[in-house]
Amino acid sequence: MLGRLNHVAIAVPDLAAGTAVYRNMLGAKVSDPQPEPTHGVTVVFVELPNTKIELLEPLGENSPIAAFLAKNPSGGIHHVCYEVEDIIAARDRLKGEGARVLGDGEPKIGAHGKPVLFLHPKDFCGTLVELEQA
Ligand code: CO
Repeated sequence: MLGRLNHVAIAVPDLAAGTAVYRNMLGAKVSDPQPEPTHGVTVVFVELPNTKIELLEPLGENSPIAAFLAKNPSGGIHHVCYEVEDIIAARDRLKGEGARVLGDGEPKIGAHGKPVLFLHPKDFCGTLVELEQA
């Protein structure tokens, strides 16, 4: 069911500082900041040869990463995103296995313009998992 690792998302308290780490210290290709108001984050994309890193900074009052950063003030790995061919088939299979899908269980359009879902970390080895239809 799982395809490629689409990205690893890292929550950061300061996007400019995080961008400098990846662009200047690590010499990576980093995009300009992209505000995603419907997701409560501003994102920069770090392009790697085989996948992407996304740095996420809270945007607005009710950012979904605010609580994570309160617990991890210097930032940390927030989620991993795997590609699937058919997100509805993947969701239905996982629900059949007893896994919890976050929110209302319906795919939303993610930062790459493709349908995504999030899965409960307690059902996936303590890691928040995003599925993206490739
Ligand atoms: Co993501």
